[in-house]
Amino acid sequence: MIMPTVYQKKLEGKSNAHLITFSDGKDYVVKYFQPGFEKTLPNEWVAYCLARYLGLPIPYAQLVEIPHDFSYQVPELEQMSHTNFQFASLYVPNCVDGHQVSNVSKIINHQSLASIILFDYWLCNRDRTRKNILLHEESPDSYQLWAIDHAEVFGSYNWLQPDLDMLPIGILKSATHKLMALFIEDEKHFIEQLELIQTMPILLIEEIVALIPDDWGVSMAEKKGMVTTLLSRRKNILPKVVQKFIQNVYRPLHQNQG
Ligand SMILES: Nc1ncnc2c1ncn2[C@@H]1O[C@H](COP(=O)(O)OP(=O)(O)OP(=O)(O)O)[C@@H](O)[C@H]1O
Ligand SMILES: [Mg+2]
Repeated sequence: MIMPTVYQKKLEGKSNAHLITFSDGKDYVVKYFQPGFEKTLPNEWVAYCLARYLGLPIPYAQLVEIPHDFSYQVPELEQMSHTNFQFASLYVPNCVDGHQVSNVSKIINHQSLASIILFDYWLCNRDRTRKNILLHEESPDSYQLWAIDHAEVFGSYNWLQPDLDMLPIGILKSATHKLMALFIEDEKHFIEQLELIQTMPILLIEEIVALIPDDWGVSMAEKKGMVTTLLSRRKNILPKVVQKFIQNVYRPLHQNQG
Protein backbone atom coordinates (compact mmCIF):
# COMPACT_ATOMS: atom_id res chain seq x y z
CA MET A 1 0.00 0.00 0.00
CA ILE A 2 1.23 3.50 -0.80
CA MET A 3 2.23 5.63 2.21
CA PRO A 4 1.95 9.42 2.58
CA THR A 5 5.24 11.29 2.31
CA VAL A 6 4.60 15.05 2.04
CA TYR A 7 1.58 17.11 3.01
CA GLN A 8 0.81 19.69 0.30
CA LYS A 9 -2.34 21.71 0.99
CA LYS A 10 -6.03 21.83 1.68
CA LEU A 11 -8.31 21.88 -1.37
CA GLU A 12 -11.44 23.97 -1.73
CA GLY A 13 -14.84 22.47 -1.07
CA LYS A 14 -17.12 21.16 1.62
CA SER A 15 -15.57 17.70 1.85
CA ASN A 16 -12.38 19.08 3.35
CA ALA A 17 -10.14 17.31 0.84
CA HIS A 18 -6.36 17.51 1.20
CA LEU A 19 -3.58 17.13 -1.34
CA ILE A 20 -0.88 14.71 -0.19
CA THR A 21 2.16 13.23 -1.96
CA PHE A 22 2.53 9.46 -1.53
CA SER A 23 5.41 6.99 -1.67
CA ASP A 24 4.76 6.28 -5.38
CA GLY A 25 5.82 9.89 -5.99
CA LYS A 26 2.31 10.92 -7.01
CA ASP A 27 -0.11 13.42 -5.51
CA TYR A 28 -3.51 12.27 -4.30
CA VAL A 29 -6.62 14.11 -3.20
CA VAL A 30 -7.44 12.55 0.17
CA LYS A 31 -10.81 12.68 1.87
CA TYR A 32 -10.88 11.66 5.53
CA PHE A 33 -13.86 10.17 7.34
CA GLN A 34 -15.72 13.02 9.06
CA PRO A 35 -18.60 13.09 11.55
CA GLY A 36 -21.69 14.58 9.93
CA PHE A 37 -20.49 13.34 6.53
CA GLU A 38 -20.62 9.63 7.37
CA LYS A 39 -21.52 8.47 3.88
CA THR A 40 -18.96 10.55 1.93
CA LEU A 41 -16.31 7.82 1.88
CA PRO A 42 -18.66 4.84 1.38
CA ASN A 43 -20.27 6.77 -1.49
CA GLU A 44 -16.90 7.65 -3.06
CA TRP A 45 -15.69 4.05 -2.79
CA VAL A 46 -18.77 2.37 -4.26
CA ALA A 47 -19.13 5.02 -6.98
CA TYR A 48 -15.46 4.67 -7.90
CA CYS A 49 -15.61 0.89 -8.28
CA LEU A 50 -18.82 0.95 -10.29
CA ALA A 51 -17.43 3.74 -12.46
CA ARG A 52 -14.27 1.76 -13.18
CA TYR A 53 -16.28 -1.24 -14.34
CA LEU A 54 -18.33 1.01 -16.62
CA GLY A 55 -15.23 2.68 -18.06
CA LEU A 56 -16.00 6.19 -16.88
CA PRO A 57 -13.19 8.75 -17.05
CA ILE A 58 -12.63 8.96 -13.31
CA PRO A 59 -9.23 9.53 -11.68
CA TYR A 60 -7.61 6.32 -10.41
CA ALA A 61 -8.36 5.89 -6.69
CA GLN A 62 -7.65 3.64 -3.74
CA LEU A 63 -8.17 3.20 -0.05
CA VAL A 64 -5.17 4.38 1.96
CA GLU A 65 -4.02 3.98 5.55
CA ILE A 66 -2.39 7.13 6.87
CA PRO A 67 -0.25 6.65 9.98
CA HIS A 68 -1.22 8.79 12.98
CA ASP A 69 2.18 10.40 13.17
CA PHE A 70 1.70 11.73 9.63
CA SER A 71 -1.75 13.19 10.32
CA TYR A 72 -0.52 14.72 13.58
CA GLN A 73 1.65 17.16 11.63
CA VAL A 74 -1.45 18.95 10.38
CA PRO A 75 -4.03 19.94 13.01
CA GLU A 76 -6.94 19.60 10.59
CA LEU A 77 -5.91 16.08 9.64
CA GLU A 78 -5.31 15.13 13.24
CA GLN A 79 -8.89 16.05 14.13
CA MET A 80 -10.25 13.73 11.45
CA SER A 81 -7.86 10.87 11.86
CA HIS A 82 -10.09 8.35 13.66
CA THR A 83 -10.54 5.65 11.03
CA ASN A 84 -7.95 3.29 9.59
CA PHE A 85 -8.83 3.92 5.96
CA GLN A 86 -9.30 7.11 3.98
CA PHE A 87 -10.17 7.61 0.29
CA ALA A 88 -7.44 8.83 -2.08
CA SER A 89 -7.93 9.86 -5.67
CA LEU A 90 -5.04 10.52 -8.02
CA TYR A 91 -4.57 14.24 -8.57
CA VAL A 92 -4.95 15.24 -12.21
CA PRO A 93 -2.70 18.28 -12.66
CA ASN A 94 -3.33 21.31 -14.84
CA CYS A 95 -7.10 21.05 -15.03
CA VAL A 96 -9.83 23.66 -14.93
CA ASP A 97 -13.39 23.02 -13.82
CA GLY A 98 -16.57 23.62 -15.79
CA HIS A 99 -16.89 27.18 -14.47
CA GLN A 100 -13.44 28.17 -15.59
CA VAL A 101 -13.83 27.51 -19.31
CA SER A 102 -15.58 29.91 -21.60
CA ASN A 103 -15.32 28.04 -24.84
CA VAL A 104 -15.24 24.28 -25.26
CA SER A 105 -15.18 23.37 -28.91
CA LYS A 106 -14.27 19.71 -28.50
CA ILE A 107 -14.31 17.04 -25.78
CA ILE A 108 -11.79 14.42 -26.79
CA ASN A 109 -13.36 11.60 -24.79
CA HIS A 110 -16.89 12.40 -25.98
CA GLN A 111 -17.59 8.67 -26.27
CA SER A 112 -17.62 8.48 -22.44
CA LEU A 113 -20.05 11.31 -21.76
CA ALA A 114 -23.28 9.31 -21.94
CA SER A 115 -21.83 6.90 -19.38
CA ILE A 116 -21.35 9.73 -16.86
CA ILE A 117 -24.93 10.92 -17.27
CA LEU A 118 -26.40 7.42 -16.90
CA PHE A 119 -24.14 6.73 -13.94
CA ASP A 120 -25.40 9.90 -12.21
CA TYR A 121 -29.00 8.76 -12.72
CA TRP A 122 -28.25 5.22 -11.60
CA LEU A 123 -26.56 6.32 -8.37
CA CYS A 124 -28.69 9.42 -7.94
CA ASN A 125 -25.82 11.88 -7.99
CA ARG A 126 -27.40 15.30 -7.68
CA ASP A 127 -24.03 16.97 -7.40
CA ARG A 128 -22.76 16.94 -10.99
CA THR A 129 -22.10 20.66 -10.86
CA ARG A 130 -19.62 22.43 -13.10
CA LYS A 131 -17.12 22.13 -10.26
CA ASN A 132 -17.37 18.37 -10.34
CA ILE A 133 -15.95 17.87 -13.79
CA LEU A 134 -12.31 18.54 -14.54
CA LEU A 135 -11.19 19.62 -17.99
CA HIS A 136 -7.67 19.12 -19.22
CA GLU A 137 -6.82 21.21 -22.27
CA GLU A 138 -5.06 19.00 -24.83
CA SER A 139 -5.02 21.53 -27.66
CA PRO A 140 -6.70 24.98 -27.91
CA ASP A 141 -10.36 24.66 -26.77
CA SER A 142 -10.13 20.87 -26.91
CA TYR A 143 -10.44 19.07 -23.58
CA GLN A 144 -10.23 15.69 -21.89
CA LEU A 145 -13.07 15.48 -19.33
CA TRP A 146 -12.81 13.78 -15.92
CA ALA A 147 -15.68 13.08 -13.52
CA ILE A 148 -14.89 13.78 -9.86
CA ASP A 149 -16.59 14.06 -6.48
CA HIS A 150 -19.02 11.25 -5.81
CA ALA A 151 -19.54 12.17 -2.15
CA GLU A 152 -23.23 12.80 -2.74
CA VAL A 153 -24.37 9.72 -4.62
CA PHE A 154 -27.39 7.94 -3.09
CA GLY A 155 -28.81 11.42 -2.60
CA SER A 156 -26.45 12.84 0.04
CA TYR A 157 -23.25 12.56 2.07
CA ASN A 158 -25.15 11.47 5.18
CA TRP A 159 -28.06 9.38 3.92
CA LEU A 160 -29.83 6.96 6.21
CA GLN A 161 -31.47 3.76 5.08
CA PRO A 162 -35.07 5.08 4.73
CA ASP A 163 -33.77 7.85 2.43
CA LEU A 164 -32.76 5.24 -0.14
CA ASP A 165 -36.42 4.42 -0.81
CA MET A 166 -37.18 8.05 -1.55
CA LEU A 167 -34.50 8.96 -4.05
CA PRO A 168 -35.74 11.06 -6.98
CA ILE A 169 -36.72 9.20 -10.11
CA GLY A 170 -37.11 12.08 -12.56
CA ILE A 171 -34.86 14.41 -14.53
CA LEU A 172 -32.08 16.03 -12.47
CA LYS A 173 -31.34 19.70 -13.07
CA SER A 174 -27.74 19.86 -14.21
CA ALA A 175 -26.13 22.41 -16.49
CA THR A 176 -23.15 20.05 -16.63
CA HIS A 177 -25.29 17.23 -18.01
CA LYS A 178 -26.51 19.65 -20.69
CA LEU A 179 -22.97 20.68 -21.52
CA MET A 180 -21.93 17.03 -21.83
CA ALA A 181 -25.06 16.14 -23.82
CA LEU A 182 -24.07 18.71 -26.45
CA PHE A 183 -21.01 16.62 -27.31
CA ILE A 184 -22.73 13.20 -27.43
CA GLU A 185 -22.92 12.37 -31.09
CA ASP A 186 -25.47 9.59 -31.11
CA GLU A 187 -28.40 8.57 -28.89
CA LYS A 188 -27.24 4.99 -29.16
CA HIS A 189 -24.49 5.71 -26.58
CA PHE A 190 -27.20 6.06 -23.91
CA ILE A 191 -28.71 2.70 -24.81
CA GLU A 192 -25.32 0.95 -24.90
CA GLN A 193 -24.47 2.28 -21.44
CA LEU A 194 -27.88 1.29 -20.08
CA GLU A 195 -27.21 -2.25 -21.22
CA LEU A 196 -23.75 -2.28 -19.64
CA ILE A 197 -25.19 -1.10 -16.32
CA GLN A 198 -28.03 -3.62 -16.45
CA THR A 199 -25.73 -6.56 -17.16
CA MET A 200 -23.14 -5.81 -14.48
CA PRO A 201 -22.97 -8.99 -12.35
CA ILE A 202 -24.94 -8.75 -9.11
CA LEU A 203 -22.11 -10.57 -7.31
CA LEU A 204 -19.68 -7.85 -8.32
CA ILE A 205 -21.99 -5.11 -7.02
CA GLU A 206 -22.35 -7.04 -3.73
CA GLU A 207 -18.61 -7.51 -3.47
CA ILE A 208 -17.88 -3.80 -3.98
CA VAL A 209 -20.34 -2.88 -1.23
CA ALA A 210 -18.98 -5.62 1.05
CA LEU A 211 -15.48 -4.14 0.74
CA ILE A 212 -16.50 -0.87 2.41
CA PRO A 213 -14.12 -0.70 5.40
CA ASP A 214 -15.80 -1.71 8.67
CA ASP A 215 -14.68 1.37 10.53
CA TRP A 216 -16.70 3.63 8.21
CA GLY A 217 -19.70 2.45 10.20
CA VAL A 218 -22.06 1.39 7.41
CA SER A 219 -24.44 -1.18 8.94
CA MET A 220 -25.25 -4.50 7.29
CA ALA A 221 -28.78 -3.26 6.66
CA GLU A 222 -27.44 -0.11 4.99
CA LYS A 223 -25.11 -2.16 2.80
CA LYS A 224 -28.02 -4.35 1.77
CA GLY A 225 -29.99 -1.16 1.08
CA MET A 226 -27.26 0.10 -1.24
CA VAL A 227 -27.28 -3.12 -3.26
CA THR A 228 -31.08 -3.25 -3.42
CA THR A 229 -31.22 0.38 -4.51
CA LEU A 230 -28.67 -0.20 -7.27
CA LEU A 231 -30.52 -3.27 -8.54
CA SER A 232 -33.95 -1.72 -8.46
CA ARG A 233 -32.90 1.61 -9.97
CA ARG A 234 -31.10 -0.02 -12.89
CA LYS A 235 -34.12 -2.19 -13.66
CA ASN A 236 -37.09 0.05 -12.95
CA ILE A 237 -35.96 3.66 -13.06
CA LEU A 238 -33.04 3.95 -15.43
CA PRO A 239 -34.82 2.82 -18.64
CA LYS A 240 -37.59 5.38 -18.12
CA VAL A 241 -35.41 8.26 -17.05
CA VAL A 242 -33.03 7.70 -19.99
CA GLN A 243 -35.94 8.05 -22.40
CA LYS A 244 -37.02 11.24 -20.59
CA PHE A 245 -33.50 12.61 -20.76
CA ILE A 246 -33.23 11.90 -24.48
CA GLN A 247 -36.61 13.47 -25.18
CA ASN A 248 -36.48 16.46 -22.85
CA VAL A 249 -32.78 17.34 -22.82
CA TYR A 250 -30.76 15.61 -25.53
CA ARG A 251 -33.05 16.07 -28.55
CA PRO A 252 -33.95 19.73 -27.92
CA LEU A 253 -30.25 20.59 -27.58
CA HIS A 254 -29.39 18.90 -30.83
CA GLN A 255 -32.40 20.29 -32.71
CA ASN A 256 -31.43 23.79 -31.60
CA GLN A 257 -27.94 23.19 -32.89
CA GLY A 258 -29.69 22.70 -36.19
N1 LIG B 1 -8.52 13.88 -8.84
C1 LIG B 1 -8.45 15.20 -8.80
N2 LIG B 1 -7.54 15.87 -9.56
C2 LIG B 1 -7.44 17.22 -9.51
N3 LIG B 1 -8.19 17.98 -8.71
C3 LIG B 1 -9.11 17.39 -7.93
C4 LIG B 1 -9.29 15.98 -7.93
N4 LIG B 1 -10.26 15.67 -7.05
C5 LIG B 1 -10.66 16.83 -6.52
N5 LIG B 1 -9.96 17.89 -7.02
C6 LIG B 1 -10.10 19.31 -6.65
O1 LIG B 1 -10.46 19.40 -5.29
C7 LIG B 1 -11.74 20.01 -5.12
C8 LIG B 1 -12.50 19.29 -4.04
O2 LIG B 1 -12.74 17.95 -4.40
P1 LIG B 1 -14.21 17.36 -4.47
O3 LIG B 1 -15.04 18.08 -5.47
O4 LIG B 1 -14.09 15.89 -4.66
O5 LIG B 1 -14.76 17.59 -3.01
P2 LIG B 1 -15.78 18.60 -2.36
O6 LIG B 1 -15.07 19.25 -1.27
O7 LIG B 1 -16.98 17.81 -2.01
O8 LIG B 1 -16.23 19.63 -3.42
P3 LIG B 1 -17.65 20.37 -3.49
O9 LIG B 1 -17.66 21.37 -2.39
O10 LIG B 1 -17.59 20.95 -4.86
O11 LIG B 1 -18.71 19.33 -3.38
C9 LIG B 1 -12.40 19.93 -6.50
O12 LIG B 1 -13.30 20.98 -6.73
C10 LIG B 1 -11.20 19.97 -7.45
O13 LIG B 1 -10.84 21.30 -7.70
MG1 LIG C 1 -16.79 18.95 -5.53
